Amino acid sequence: MTATHTTGAPPVSDSLSLQHSVDLNAEAALDKAGLQRNLREHLLLNFTNMGRYAESDVPVFVRGEGCYIYDADGRKFIDGLSGLFCTNLGHSFGEEVGEVAKQQLSELVYTPTWTVAHPSAIKLAEKIASKAPEGMEHVFFTNSGSEAVESAWKLAREWHWANGEPQRTKAIARRYAYHGTTMGAMSFTGYAFAREKFEPLAVPTHHVSPTYAFRHHLGHDEEALTAYLLEEIETVLEFTGPSTVAMLIAEPVQNSGGSIMPPKGYWQGLRDICDKYGILLVADEVITGFGRVGHWFASQRFDVVPDMITFAKGVTAGHAPLGGVILNEKTAEPFTSGKTMFTHGNTWSGHPLSTAIGLKVLEIIERENIMENVLANEVLIGARLDDMRSLPFIGDVRGAGHFWAIELVKDKETNEPFTEEEADWVLRTVLSDEMARRGLLCRLDDRDQPVIQLSPPLIADMALINEILDIITAALIHVEDTIKAGRPS
Ligand SMILES: Cc1ncc(COP(=O)(O)O)c(C=O)c1O
Repeated sequence: MTATHTTGAPPVSDSLSLQHSVDLNAEAALDKAGLQRNLREHLLLNFTNMGRYAESDVPVFVRGEGCYIYDADGRKFIDGLSGLFCTNLGHSFGEEVGEVAKQQLSELVYTPTWTVAHPSAIKLAEKIASKAPEGMEHVFFTNSGSEAVESAWKLAREWHWANGEPQRTKAIARRYAYHGTTMGAMSFTGYAFAREKFEPLAVPTHHVSPTYAFRHHLGHDEEALTAYLLEEIETVLEFTGPSTVAMLIAEPVQNSGGSIMPPKGYWQGLRDICDKYGILLVADEVITGFGRVGHWFASQRFDVVPDMITFAKGVTAGHAPLGGVILNEKTAEPFTSGKTMFTHGNTWSGHPLSTAIGLKVLEIIERENIMENVLANEVLIGARLDDMRSLPFIGDVRGAGHFWAIELVKDKETNEPFTEEEADWVLRTVLSDEMARRGLLCRLDDRDQPVIQLSPPLIADMALINEILDIITAALIHVEDTIKAGRPS
């Protein structure tokens, strides 16, 4: 295991000074004002309301090392969300990965994977198949998670078409789940904010309940919750007509809403329902794939073999864009037997650079014993978070591996949630600023109830994770003090 943090957890009051040591050399070398000006004039940011930066600079990050990243002012932050759940190996393997990239580009810059192929794509497909659940042997590459989901949808449609069922045009997905932003993938994404301006969407989709236990009347009883949720799916199928549904897509652990774990038996239940009605089961493992919950794929943790797995992010640990779909034999058969072709493709699918990088990254994941680290930390993180339940505003803690969420409530006695307006000030201003001030980058998500999402790089050790949890503790106490002092007018 690469040492990422060896200093031990500092007292909370020391976090700020420890984190924000300023690297004056880096600062001097950058034309910070020029970057801000050009950013505002030329770079359109993803999902960013620029009004938020009316009176402050947009954060610009210039360097990374281990589990830390540094902004243009030389300030040091813990990369608590692994970028966007992708810098799973942190920031110190760039040179080693870069050597492979250089070698690939000097040997072969590009060849497509349309009717021809090249060694890196072939080797990576074989490697991924060797790590995937039993019987999932075939890989189709994309450039992103959204395209992976989009491709799974087209594979599902075409598979049913090849099997004489072109009428299967609908999907089942879950509320609050995020499956991407392209028009197909967004059809499965389950919240209005992302969808409403783009309706009507490409795929008619029924959204069912996520496996959210905390506020559910059966949340205390996993088996009863599973039965309730599966019955809901059966009811939706009965209503829409099961023979019109092509696929059911779900994340093994749902990210939006905060690391929502499946109750016992849920995935086996999904498998049974899909088998019963001839629907393809897709596990969206864009976040959970490649170690986030301590297994190569979370499907293995929950002991299910889906028909397809979508992946992205972790396959290159953020070193290059790459995604894809893994198919079991049944789903691949029409396309591998010569019966039909997959009527889909893109120029960069299985690009030599990205696939060579993916191969190297998987080698590093094995060499650095990432799964062992994540599973060992999981127990300690779970225990520490349990201890934190007594802190102000913490309603629930949940998750697995290096993928956790802390759900915040206004009133711990009644679990009364914050109002929209309170959440805006308390979470997006006070808490978020305080965590950043103390040197932690992580995400406050409120696509459903407000949660602090924790997703540190998979190389992080417990000393670093304890430091993250110390910062969150201090930030929550600061929020409580701020509320007691009254909101500034
Ligand atoms: C579960 C899931 N599916 C799909 C996507 C879309 O991936 P991308 O942003 O690479 O298009 C994401 C992105 O976060 C995701 O979390």
